[in-house]
Amino acid sequence: MAQTFDRHRRLRSSAAMRNLVRENHVRMEDLIYPLFVVEGNNVKKEIPSMPGVYHFSLDQLAIEMKEVVAAGIESVIMFGVPEEKDACGTGAYDDSAITQQAIRLIKEAYPEMIVIADTCLCEYTDHGHCGVIHDGDVDNDESLKLLAQTAVSQARAGADIIAPSNMMDGFVIAIREALDEAGFTHIPIMSYAVKYASAFYGPFRDAANSAPQFGDRKTYQMDPSNSREGLREAASDVKEGADFLIVKPGLAFMDMVVRLRENFNQPIVAYNVSGEYSMVKAAAANGWIDEERIVMETLVGFKRAGADLIITYHAKDVSKWLKG
Ligand code: PBG
Repeated sequence: MAQTFDRHRRLRSSAAMRNLVRENHVRMEDLIYPLFVVEGNNVKKEIPSMPGVYHFSLDQLAIEMKEVVAAGIESVIMFGVPEEKDACGTGAYDDSAITQQAIRLIKEAYPEMIVIADTCLCEYTDHGHCGVIHDGDVDNDESLKLLAQTAVSQARAGADIIAPSNMMDGFVIAIREALDEAGFTHIPIMSYAVKYASAFYGPFRDAANSAPQFGDRKTYQMDPSNSREGLREAASDVKEGADFLIVKPGLAFMDMVVRLRENFNQPIVAYNVSGEYSMVKAAAANGWIDEERIVMETLVGFKRAGADLIITYHAKDVSKWLKG
């Protein structure tokens, strides 16, 4: 009998056969784990909308890092949440501020750990915007100066990678020039190239206490309806010298991971953001979904779309699951 159809099931016949033909894998070295640091002592406070994610004071961070290292996590991204905030986000570029202290602490204890610094002002400004305000709007070029200072201060503290997330025009070139001038020509820039004005950041803003106090971020973060605009953003960042390109949020915008993969040769990073994490945690807590399978499918989905790296709050759980 002439065969009239394809037998795809041949390659799915057993676990060993499926292992043999598996195209994409989630590995610990692909994952970047976010950490939130706060001032004070003996603070390990769970963020209510992000179960399993904490605010750490430096002493507690030191303890947490042992677990992070034991989990096989090889890179972390740092978010500082200072007590005092002001109009120009001074806490972002002060060499003795909390983020810089945390970076120093990790690099001293674990020189091999890749420490990425999120470079933005919103966690440090009292108005919660990612730059300085003039006449009710974020002043692009004035903000660039402060962001460049922030990046240099973070590099001085020992950051291995600078990850600017502020979405000001020209932020990559401004930071590149400042880093080079300060002698940090070897420090790469991981640009939040395609970053949407998204409701998926809600829980993060609880965690960083960084919700804008007036207006929104729509004049600098991108309209979620646009994809060609994302390619223009990424092209600018590459031209300005970005070494990595981030797509954020990752899940609802996986098309942009695919499109960046097709159009650029820089490593592509998908940010599996706070809202995506919280939805999974809430549904899992209710027994509505299988958390492990949902997370692993999501992460391998990012890999399939073309992401080289994934920033994810699930990294410690993934380590447990990968070890079986
Ligand atoms: C700083 C920044 C934000 C996130 C990462 N860096 C918040 C924002 O832009 O409002 C969000 C990360 C997350 O939701 O997990 N600008």
